[in-house]
Amino acid sequence: MDGPLLVEERDDRVVASLHRPDKRNAIDLATIQALHALCDELEEHPRTLILTGSGGVFAAGADIAELRERRAEDALRNINATAFVRIRELPMPVLAAMDGYALGGGAELAYAADLRIATPALRIGNPETGLGILAAAGATWRLPEIVGEALAAEMLFTGRRLTAEEALHAGLISAIHPADELLHAAHALADKIAANDALATQHTKRALRAPRSEHPRIDGELQAELFESPEKTRRMTAFLERRAR
Ligand code: COA
Repeated sequence: MDGPLLVEERDDRVVASLHRPDKRNAIDLATIQALHALCDELEEHPRTLILTGSGGVFAAGADIAELRERRAEDALRNINATAFVRIRELPMPVLAAMDGYALGGGAELAYAADLRIATPALRIGNPETGLGILAAAGATWRLPEIVGEALAAEMLFTGRRLTAEEALHAGLISAIHPADELLHAAHALADKIAANDALATQHTKRALRAPRSEHPRIDGELQAELFESPEKTRRMTAFLERRAR
């Protein structure tokens, strides 16, 4: 039976499609549980993750029908934020490939990714204050990091949705592709990642994600491990021998 998350497994990547076609892929508790199950697997067997939507939509937010019933104690459990932090912390890169609406919690899921690409139909933003809540699943701290304080404040206070062009200009996405090429473009990025050394990729992600105060100590420690890896010697020797020929 179809769940709220369709998962396609490959050796070096997993494609997970949000799939609640009747609800514009709104993220409900079952979706969050499916994302946790996916994280269990990707923490155990690290692979690149491509997050996408189905039916021409990424996700039209957290599920408002569920949100309306939630009370203070639910907010304190940080239900969506906890899943999105886990996704952000996955060992290998996470790509969000977005078509159509990426709103509210849907946008916050995309902010948790390392790379974001979209179609010209993207409409991304955080309308939460219009619903009487705040965007508590990452937007208040990730969005300013990605697009800068000024635009993040405008988006969060006014609920303005960015078009794909605006998102590209703001650095919120790195490329725009026609809808029928979106997944192909995501796989092309995953192919490039897969051609590189997996441990070097994982360590790059850890260094990228580390707080400023940990640099450059953490870079040195991660590099120390890579400098001793057989794969580093193999890849560098291959380069040098090719050059010597
Ligand atoms: N939560 C729960 N249900 C949602 C939803 C959400 N975030 N977004 C859409 N849906 C549901 C609608 O209630 C509707 O359900 P119904 O058919 O049972 O009535 C169905 O999905 C289709 O939505 P509809 O509004 O008819 O589609 P549309 O194409 O006209 O508009 C949107 C699409 C995304 C503009 C519109 O659905 C919308 O504004 N959604 C809410 C966006 C939002 O505020 N998100 C932030 C939440 S934190």
